[in-house]
Amino acid sequence: MRMYDLISKKKNGQRLSDEEIQFIIKGYTDGEIPDYQMSAFLMAVCLKGMDTEETIAMTMAMAHSGDMLDLSAIHGIKADKHSTGGVGDKTSLIIGPMVASLGVPVAKMSGRGLGHTGGTIDKLESFEGFTTELSEQKFFDNVNQMKLAIIGQTANLAPADKKIYALRDVTATIDNISLISSSIMSKKIAAGADVIVLDVKSGSGAFMKTLEGSIELAETMVKIGNGVGRETYAVISDMNQPLGSAVGNNLEVIEAIDTLRGNGPEDLLDASLTLASYMVVGAKHAKTPEEAREMLLGTIKDGSALNKFAEFVRAQGGDDRAVFDTSLFPKANLQKEVCAVKEGYITEIHTDEIGMTSLILGGGRETKESVIGMKIHKKLGDKVEVGTPLATLYANDASKLEAASERFLCAYTIGEEKPEVPNHIYGIVTKDGYQAY
Ligand code: URA
Repeated sequence: MRMYDLISKKKNGQRLSDEEIQFIIKGYTDGEIPDYQMSAFLMAVCLKGMDTEETIAMTMAMAHSGDMLDLSAIHGIKADKHSTGGVGDKTSLIIGPMVASLGVPVAKMSGRGLGHTGGTIDKLESFEGFTTELSEQKFFDNVNQMKLAIIGQTANLAPADKKIYALRDVTATIDNISLISSSIMSKKIAAGADVIVLDVKSGSGAFMKTLEGSIELAETMVKIGNGVGRETYAVISDMNQPLGSAVGNNLEVIEAIDTLRGNGPEDLLDASLTLASYMVVGAKHAKTPEEAREMLLGTIKDGSALNKFAEFVRAQGGDDRAVFDTSLFPKANLQKEVCAVKEGYITEIHTDEIGMTSLILGGGRETKESVIGMKIHKKLGDKVEVGTPLATLYANDASKLEAASERFLCAYTIGEEKPEVPNHIYGIVTKDGYQAY
């Protein structure tokens, strides 16, 4: 087999066999195929596409390029959740404890922030002493004992994806559905869970800006997962505005704790319950998502989810006192309200700009500081007067606070007409296809 012929075949719109795709992924990972040939191949895929079988072959070749986590030492059906990345998305912090409280094992491998979105590990490190560097045995033991543990992504998880993603990033080949879905699913499949629930974000703060694109991405990933024996669901959720109101590491943790106490924002609670209910159904602990939702709400009402969160933080070395008294989290030295400069309705929020504002403040993973970020007070459809506070920004550095408040204001559009506010959940993709909410 020659790489030249395979590039040419894809350039001419022909499909590649499993063996040909395995040859490409193995050859590139081992350094036998050079960057320039792989770049040409990726561009041919962007222009001519791959069908479902080719995408599954690429996913599995990338998953098998490194360690395949064997979770068989953990009892029960293991459920995992993955978000394609959103601003203010702290659902994992709420879902893990709720689902684990119902006895469903959650053995999660999480990442750090990507681009303008924060990662679950960065957020959890807001707890003094918290670590995700557990041995494999400790990870298994914790899940068996308390049904919840989170480790960082190991260096050898889908190394082919790491190498290909870096190349895609510099060759304008990120935005292809087959390449995105094989990249995400190769890591999820290698991470070993039996049930995978995907949160596919759609809108200005997401990878996929349109609902049509998000549905196509979700359908492809659900086909891949189910095609290789992992029960897979995808919830399509809105990212035309941040989820909840906190953006930035420890502010997001505090909002997640408020939600576990039953005092969180309604959109955040609903998104968390929706995603979690499919994990519970997939793990066969409930027959329908409606039944699962009631059970999950019960874990908030009786305090078991909050207690589970504290138990999990403590088991991973964190100081869990802050779970019960969030005033123990460190606070930023400076704060500033950003106010509306005209009267009207919030018609548009450039959510990726909100993410960038958080990065300027230092609220992402740019620094280890976790006390900075923002609380958003006004969201899509809200009426504002001149001087109404839109958000409060928190920082330790006055110049960053100034730069961030200017950037924040640019993220908001205020108009005269009250806009249609999108539902924060658009629909769900199961093996039977897309169903709108
Ligand atoms: N996230 C990934 O892991 N891969 C992509 O290609 C896009 C988003």
